[in-house]
Amino acid sequence: MVKQIQIAIDGPAGAGKSTIAKIVAEKLGFTYIDTGAMYRAVTYKALTHNIKLNDADSLEKMLLDTMIVLKPSQNGQLVFVDGKDVTQEIRSNEVTSNVSEVAAHANIREILVAKQQELAANGGIVMDGRDIATHVLKDAELKIFMSASVEERAKRRFFDNERRGIPSTMEKLREEIALRDKLDSEREASPLVQAEDAIYLDTTELSIEQAADAILELANETGK
Ligand code: DC
Repeated sequence: MVKQIQIAIDGPAGAGKSTIAKIVAEKLGFTYIDTGAMYRAVTYKALTHNIKLNDADSLEKMLLDTMIVLKPSQNGQLVFVDGKDVTQEIRSNEVTSNVSEVAAHANIREILVAKQQELAANGGIVMDGRDIATHVLKDAELKIFMSASVEERAKRRFFDNERRGIPSTMEKLREEIALRDKLDSEREASPLVQAEDAIYLDTTELSIEQAADAILELANETGK
């Protein structure tokens, strides 16, 4: 039995974090939390309420009056905003291309980070995002920084979109991923960087199972 440790997984878009984190959590009997979904939920609500995404104060006001609930299910994590299931809606192209702007606001991050820390407080958690090891769970027992080449990440997103029925082209995805990497890595508030004590895992050449197994091995070792 593995101890109820905290596992932090960070990395850029499309590195395979959520798919792999979900498998790791399932195998360990841990709870999986996709923090990107929270930033997406805020973006979705702002877009549907015509709130300007560069207006940090209005966004904060809206967020303080919003209930975001993450619910684990057989088909992955469900996301509810004010009681409405928005699991599909938060993956739309519109949300995807606007979420980096929302995630760059320090006041929005502060509120969501506090919620993430609360959710992880009892351990037995696999949490993925961009700043989990560096800010949210600085004391996590196991920290992984997962990446893959832009080409491979675009390919994965393409097939993912195809499965979800979202239209896209490889060229556009490559551009979008590169732009999102840039925005996430260069923003002032909690940019995407590898924590000093994180283990780097390049998944370009790895299957989902191989990447999950690598983390499970580390988790078993760490949580002995
Ligand atoms: O992982 P994702 O594509 O669902 O993330 C959506 C956006 O949210 C992405 O642009 C980066 C941002 N994000 C963040 O800034 N911090 C996190 N912990 C998780 C996601």
